[in-house]
Amino acid sequence: MAKKKTLFECQACGFQTPRWMGKCPSCGEWDTIVELTKEQIEFLQKTSKSSSASSAPLAKPITEIDEDNIQRLSSGSRELDLVLGGGIVPGSLTLIGGSPGIGKSTLLLKIAGNLSKKGENILYVSGEESAGQIKLRANRLDSNNPNLYLLSEIRLESVINELDKRDYNFIVIDSIQTLYSEETPSAPGSVTQVRTITFELMRIAKSRRIPVFIIGHITKEGSIAGPRVLEHMVDTVLYFEGDTNSELRILRGFKNRFGSTNEVGIFEMSAGGLEDAKSIAGKFFAKGTLQPGSALTVIMEGSRPIVIEIQALVAESYGHPKRSSTGLDNNRLSMLLALLEKKLDLPLGTYDVYINVSGGIKITEPAADLAVIAAILSSYRDRPLSSETIFLGEVSLTGEVRDIPSLSQRLKEMETQGFKKAIVPSLPIEKSSIKCYQTQEVAKIVEWIFV
Ligand SMILES: Nc1ncnc2c1ncn2[C@@H]1O[C@H](COP(=O)(O)OP(=O)(O)O)[C@@H](O)[C@H]1O
Ligand SMILES: [Mg+2]
Repeated sequence: MAKKKTLFECQACGFQTPRWMGKCPSCGEWDTIVELTKEQIEFLQKTSKSSSASSAPLAKPITEIDEDNIQRLSSGSRELDLVLGGGIVPGSLTLIGGSPGIGKSTLLLKIAGNLSKKGENILYVSGEESAGQIKLRANRLDSNNPNLYLLSEIRLESVINELDKRDYNFIVIDSIQTLYSEETPSAPGSVTQVRTITFELMRIAKSRRIPVFIIGHITKEGSIAGPRVLEHMVDTVLYFEGDTNSELRILRGFKNRFGSTNEVGIFEMSAGGLEDAKSIAGKFFAKGTLQPGSALTVIMEGSRPIVIEIQALVAESYGHPKRSSTGLDNNRLSMLLALLEKKLDLPLGTYDVYINVSGGIKITEPAADLAVIAAILSSYRDRPLSSETIFLGEVSLTGEVRDIPSLSQRLKEMETQGFKKAIVPSLPIEKSSIKCYQTQEVAKIVEWIFV
C-alpha cells in the first residue's frame, strides 16, 4: 500500500517540511507548523512544475542586458513619494501595513483620487467595505473622479477578469487578507492563499507594468498577520507607525527594491483625510517646562532632524520588576538599565521602568541613548530637567558616550526650535549658538543634568 504523502507548512513564514515540528527552524516561531490538505499539496505540485523544456540556455551575459529605465510617477503626495524613493515605479508591488484605523485605506483612496485626476484609470478593490462606504470616504477626501473605479470583491478571479475589461493604470487591493483565490482550497488570509494571490498580483504588475498597492493588516506583535512570505515577495514594504490618538502618522520603509529605506513619510490625519504634514518641526514635543521623567533629544529620520520627547516612569516595584517601552527597543532599554545599575549604583532592580516616546514615533538609532538615561534619572530622582537642554549621544556597554552622526544638523534644528544647551559626546566643528557640554562618560552626566 502506498504511503500517504504529507506536507507541513509554517503559518508564519511558509517554510515547508515533510514532518511536523513544534518550532519552525526557519523563523523560530512555535506552534505555527500545520499539515496541508491533499488539495493544497496537489496545487503546490501543479504550480511548481517546470514550464520550459527548451535545450538552449536562456540566461544572458549581464553585459548584453539593457538596464531598466525607471520613470517614476508622482503619487500627488510629497511624503509618500519621499518614502518610495521619488515616486511610484511602474510595475511595482507595494505593501502598506499598519494597525486597524491607522489610515491605510484613507491614504490609498486619497492617492487613487490624486492619480485619477491626472487622467489615470484606477481600480480600487475592497473586500472590507462596500462601494457605498468607500464613496462616503471619497467625498471627505475629495477623491471623487469618474476615472476612479470601485470594485467590492473578494475573489481574485473576478479582479483579474475586471482587469481584462478596462485599461487600468493603478490598482489598490484593500486588503490582502480578505482576498481569496478559488483555485486554492484554504481560507482567506492563510499562507497558501496569500502566496497564490501575491504571486498572481506580482505577475499582473510586472506583465502589464501597472503599479499595485496592497494593504495588509498587522498583528499585535507587529508583523503582517499570517504570512511573512508576503514581505519577501513584494518590491516595497511600508509600515504605518503612530498613535491612533494623535493626528500624526509615520510611514516607514522596511524594504525597497527601487530606493533606500532611510526616509519616512509624515502625515497628519485631518477631516480632509491623511495629508502631508505641513511642518513636522515642533510636533513631537511640547514647549514649556518639563515634568520629572521627560527628556528631549533630536533624532534623524532620514535626512530630517526631529526634536522628540522621551518619557520615563521609574516606580517602586511590587514583585517582579517590569520593563516596558513604547517606541524604544526593549533590549536597548534593558541594556541601559543594567548600565545605570553598574555605573551609577542605582538600585533599578527593585523598580518598574516604563518608557514612552512621544507622538508614536519609533526610535531606530542609538543616538537617543543619553536622553533615555536622562529621562530615567529624572524620574528616579523626581526632578525635572531643563526644558532648554537636549541630550545627544550613543552609550556603549562600557558606559562611554559615543559620537553620533549628523551632529551639526541636529544642532541647527535645535537653534530653529529655540533651544540653548546640548549635552554632546564631542564638540561640533561648525560654529553654533547652542552651548555644548561635552560628556564622554555616562557616569558624569548626573553631575550636569539637574543644573
Ligand atoms: N470623518 C472623519 N474625520 C476625521 N477623521 C476620520 C473621519 N472618519 C474616519 N477618520 C479617521 O480615519 C481613520 C480610519 O482610517 P482607515 O483608513 O479606515 O484605517 P485603516 O484602513 O488603516 O484601518 C479613523 O481611525 C479615524 O481616525
Ligand atoms: Mg481599511
